[in-house]
Amino acid sequence: FHFDLIIRNGTVVNASDETQCDIGVRNGVVTCLGKNLPVPEGCKVIDAEGGWITPGGVDSHVHIGQNQGNAQSADDWTTGTRGAIAGGTTTVVAFAVQVRGEKVMPAVEAYYDLADGKTHCDYSFHAIISDPTDEVVDKELAELVKFGVTSVKVYMTYADMALNDRQMLDILAGSRRHGLTTMVHAENHDIIEWMAERLLKQGMSEPMHHGTSRPQLVEDEATQRALALAEVIDAPMLLVHVSAKEATRAIRKAQTRGLPIYGETCPHYALLTAEKMQAPGFLGAKCVCSPPLRSDPSDKAGIWEGLANGTFTVLSSDHAPFNFFDETGKKYGLIENTTKNPAGNFRAIPNGIPGINTRSPLLWSYGVLEGRISRQRFVELNSSNAAKLYGMYPKKGTIQPGSDADFVIWRSDASRKSTIIKQENMHHGVDYTPYEDMEVKDWPRLVILRGEVVYDGESNQIMNQPGGGEFIKRRLSSLPGPRGTSRAWINDFQPHKI
Ligand code: URP
Ligand code: ZN
Ligand code: ZN
Ligand code: ZN
Repeated sequence: FHFDLIIRNGTVVNASDETQCDIGVRNGVVTCLGKNLPVPEGCKVIDAEGGWITPGGVDSHVHIGQNQGNAQSADDWTTGTRGAIAGGTTTVVAFAVQVRGEKVMPAVEAYYDLADGKTHCDYSFHAIISDPTDEVVDKELAELVKFGVTSVKVYMTYADMALNDRQMLDILAGSRRHGLTTMVHAENHDIIEWMAERLLKQGMSEPMHHGTSRPQLVEDEATQRALALAEVIDAPMLLVHVSAKEATRAIRKAQTRGLPIYGETCPHYALLTAEKMQAPGFLGAKCVCSPPLRSDPSDKAGIWEGLANGTFTVLSSDHAPFNFFDETGKKYGLIENTTKNPAGNFRAIPNGIPGINTRSPLLWSYGVLEGRISRQRFVELNSSNAAKLYGMYPKKGTIQPGSDADFVIWRSDASRKSTIIKQENMHHGVDYTPYEDMEVKDWPRLVILRGEVVYDGESNQIMNQPGGGEFIKRRLSSLPGPRGTSRAWINDFQPHKI
């Protein structure tokens, strides 16, 4: 028993079950789960104090070091991943963006260089494809897989990124052929543009009208269209950042039919409402993201229903950090203010809100501790499913022999203490949190990355150095993919022959 770390006196919570046992770790890897493991000389022992031990969080949708138009990311790889570990996330998957007209692989390598040696947690990338040329579809997707990037994200909106349906089919077919998972940002671009232009002409330029220009049917229509495109190709697809009950139901319906469709939502769609965008003056800009926060309480209920019933495969933060009090960030919505409205111009506000530092505590508190989801479901949404979907399981996403020793130790039910979320206590680099003054019933007491304590929640201290995180070369998804060749297709067209 050559353990160099043993964790005692906790309950190991996995997606499948939970057990009161010790965890034996050697060289950053779990080697044994068992009762009363013998403690070798020099072995470090951590007392879990009767608490719950969950796999380190996997946040599979974050934007780090990614600028948006003129706006600058407020997080670099050091501050972003510092925020991650302070919230119990030990693995992040961020985006590398293909600029239209350019190649994909050099972009991935450039983002890799930004992160390499600078992170507090483990990391990987998805590639955003804005220009699915033949070269990209035939050659670069294969190179991505070789590099360990086994997923792509495509957009149905944003002028510089949006793909039309034909381009979506191209990328889905290529992804199917090379085994990648396609993530889709589903909003109807033309409705948004058409409505936004008219809203501005009518002087409706305040941050809240970002939401007016993107009603839920914009998301619902694009989601259903994306699902149809995936079905034609028989390709797996994850719908990212789902915000409303209608899109949730469309995904559910496809899953019920046995299609390899996956869903993602975020804490802000479960917990925040559109009223946040109506804050006085320009303050609402803090909560401008796409799809927008919804005002109908039935949307919140629908999101929680999808979190509980399995429609949502993963809960990610969609951390998109733009400083509020800073003219490189949200304040672009004031500078680029052709409407001369003191509350700004919603179209010029960079989209996205911070969440990397708060994702897991919010799900643990509002999900598990308030009885909306089980601890097993928490682990699925917080870690395991993302690890499976994105080819990192069982290295990540579970506590079992052979897995990386990434853990979050939560307090026991008896010793729990609530925390009020405050920007001053966040470790991310962005200058606000949309959850200011919200209460969570617990916060990670200890966060461990490959056997090393990287965050101490008692003192709110980061315990490791930048460079402590490693790049993860991902394999293909281990969740169901194309349904094979033996079934009847939608008609004589056979997607496996393309
Ligand atoms: O508003 C958002 N979500 N901004 C980040 C970019 C994206 O679409 O995920
Ligand atoms: Zn053993
Ligand atoms: Zn998106
Ligand atoms: Zn995003």
